[in-house]
Amino acid sequence: MSVSGADGEKTVVFRRDAVRVQVPATSANLGPGFDSAGLALELVDELVAMVTDDPGVLVEVSGEGSDDLPRDSSHLVVRAMALGFSALGASPEGFVLRCTNVIPHGRGLGSSAAAIIGGLVLARALVVDGDDRLSDDNLLQLALTMESHPDNISAALFGSFTIAWTTDEGIADAARIEVNPDLRVIVAIPSFEVPTKAARQALPAHVDYATASFNIARSALLVHALTEDPSLLLEATADRMHQEQRRGMYAPSMVLVDSLRGRGIAAAISGAGPTVIAFALASEVDSVLSAIEGEWRTYALQIRPAGARVTGS
Ligand code: HSE
Repeated sequence: MSVSGADGEKTVVFRRDAVRVQVPATSANLGPGFDSAGLALELVDELVAMVTDDPGVLVEVSGEGSDDLPRDSSHLVVRAMALGFSALGASPEGFVLRCTNVIPHGRGLGSSAAAIIGGLVLARALVVDGDDRLSDDNLLQLALTMESHPDNISAALFGSFTIAWTTDEGIADAARIEVNPDLRVIVAIPSFEVPTKAARQALPAHVDYATASFNIARSALLVHALTEDPSLLLEATADRMHQEQRRGMYAPSMVLVDSLRGRGIAAAISGAGPTVIAFALASEVDSVLSAIEGEWRTYALQIRPAGARVTGS
């Protein structure tokens, strides 16, 4: 099979067979944890790729976004694979990629993070000693160059609940935390989309001390509530830093968040929106679902312990 390698570097050998990767949807922020809290959900995209001796890329897409997504090197998974191959010192002649998309696009459920992490994990798995050449930490750093905030990419890579940060030197890192196994996440997805870039531009340049203090307390409490004491989740998912500031971009979602919170349900905007997430114990899922009125696509999901996984060929 194809072999490449820069002068003086160990030769790269590609796997001959196809590689399959599953990568989860993610929610971010979870209320107070702007750009840092992430949660992997049991809603997964599946990517299959194989290196070929024919030059170029061949992309097939089915499911979410299949009417609109490009089929060439501008496809986000292909771009992530190209970045991964380059970091691995690998230059395949070509490859084929099949994407079975389940994660809705433009809804704040981490479809871009899934594409980026999925593409990088695919590239690593297609190189015989890829795991030795590219650690998860290196991979996260590459992903950060494609998505400016580390919250979704960390949860998509490591699974479960993650707290992500960037160092003064701009290096991304994350801590993975086990959550209470009885917790479920209800997602309510509207039909409209909100581009994350526009949502970020809607935020003010500065945060005052009272607002910062409010969110710092809730972010710390969120870790305790998701792991030890879910009865604190209503308070722990309160936010003053970004949701109200973006209300105009997802007004119907904020009406639902306000209505659920008014009933004592821990609801927040998922990432940059417009999807709404609500936390519940398994026994409370039906009553939360019945409190969601109107035109929403709803799922009751488990929190996914695993991030992106190579699941075979
Ligand atoms: N944390 C980011 C934001 C989006 O709220 O802009 C993550 O999906």
